[in-house]
Amino acid sequence: MPKTVIFDLDGVITDTARFHFLAWKRLANKIGLDIDDAFNEKLKGVDRMNSLELILAQGTKKYSEQEKLAMADEKNEDYKVLIEEMTAKDLLPGAHSTLTSLRKMGIKLALASASKNAATILNKLGISDLFDYVVDSNQVKHGKPAPDIFLLAAKQLGSSPSECIGVEDAVVGVQAIKSAGMYAVGVGDPKVLTQADMVIPDLTGFPVGEAFSATFNKVLA
Ligand code: BG6
Ligand code: MG
Repeated sequence: MPKTVIFDLDGVITDTARFHFLAWKRLANKIGLDIDDAFNEKLKGVDRMNSLELILAQGTKKYSEQEKLAMADEKNEDYKVLIEEMTAKDLLPGAHSTLTSLRKMGIKLALASASKNAATILNKLGISDLFDYVVDSNQVKHGKPAPDIFLLAAKQLGSSPSECIGVEDAVVGVQAIKSAGMYAVGVGDPKVLTQADMVIPDLTGFPVGEAFSATFNKVLA
């Protein structure tokens, strides 16, 4: 019986991708570059400095580490203004009911987010109390697609990877779950999340109650 479910935040529990996109686009435009929705897909799940590198690779100009840090800071300040007004109404469909149902079943819940703003966002959504452990990219050396963030969450909750289910919307996130040796539930398009063990359109499709055991008991330890 699986013991622990480890959720990604952005794109699974709330839709912050549009805010990241707006803030990165503003920065890109300022330095003579542009990004579109298709490019934004590549930034999903990628941490702040690596996202910046992907954007800068669209142009030819080289920047010093100091300039890059300043750009990342500027983007983050813009992003923080954009998320200021977030409330529980910004929870994606099925997010709250899935978390509360799993808790009632005695399943341990963790959050594994690449975002250093994760704790702030959980507070704004009013769901901090629903998680037994929260890990963000401040606590690990290697971001997704490395397995580190999911492995740390499992370890802190006393579960082995084979007892864990990871839930992700990003290709790099699903890769991180699979590298960690966990069962991967993708949220989004099965044509995109090809490495996931199962894909659901949103958390309204996450199996809870009897459906949880029926779905996962046969595939997990
Ligand atoms: C991820 C997002 O959850 O967090 C990425 O999908 C984002 O788009 C990353 O770049 C880092 O976020 P932050 O808030 O630390 O800049
Ligand atoms: Mg995500």
